[in-house]
Amino acid sequence: MRAAEFQSIVVLTGAGISAESGVPTFRGPDGLWEGHRVEDVATPQAFRRDPVLVQAFYDARRAALARVAPNAAHAALARLDAQWPGDLLVVTQNVDDLHERAGARRMVHMHGELKSALCLACGERQTAPDTLSDGPACIRCEARRLRPDIVWFGEMPYHMDRIETALAACDLFVSIGTSGAVYPAAGFVQGARHAGARTLEINLDRSEGTHFFDEARHGRAGELVPLWVDALLKR
Ligand code: OAD
Repeated sequence: MRAAEFQSIVVLTGAGISAESGVPTFRGPDGLWEGHRVEDVATPQAFRRDPVLVQAFYDARRAALARVAPNAAHAALARLDAQWPGDLLVVTQNVDDLHERAGARRMVHMHGELKSALCLACGERQTAPDTLSDGPACIRCEARRLRPDIVWFGEMPYHMDRIETALAACDLFVSIGTSGAVYPAAGFVQGARHAGARTLEINLDRSEGTHFFDEARHGRAGELVPLWVDALLKR
């Protein structure tokens, strides 16, 4: 893969890129996410049924961000962002803030962010206070109806227009640390292929979509991503 071949890159990241920072992935061997079934904490129905549980769950995830730091894979993508002269968009499914703490700028959070809150009364997005369980007031309308600004199952991911435009124009698509189990992200590789892009998977093991990629490199993101970025930036 020679840098001179490419102008426009889209990188998709998932929970696997943050695993070496100590953030648990979603689909562990026990099928549970931090001890919960996904449908008990990550759906609008769960929030209506048991808002106290859901708010406490995300408050705990937000608090855990203070105990983790970006790893070598986040740092490598930030280096790519700073040095790549062509177009780049990093699309993360992750709700942690490790890409931006590493220094990435050309990126979007398609599943929302732990550090953001959304007011159910007026729609205002705002920096999330440490806890939402205690019902803080919205900075705009003062209603006490803030929810985590996270895309739950059944809701529409964010930034889809920008992502689809970037996919249609990219000539290199790289997927890092995602199981390929959740759409629409799992379908981005096919969108990129349709646009004529070369496609590369970097993941610990085979994902559900490995067969869609031109090339797959299996191992730890903290080792493989810096190697890939270094090769791409070397001219
Ligand atoms: P998953 O937990 O489904 O998959 C993580 C992938 O990362 C797996 O394929 C692991 O093998 C791989 N992995 C683990 N450690 C790794 C490492 N050190 N280096 C490289 N790869 C590693 O997480 P996602 O695919 O991100 O959505 O899950 C997608 C979405 O499902 C999430 O954004 C979330 C979840 O439900 C919402 O909350 C809306």
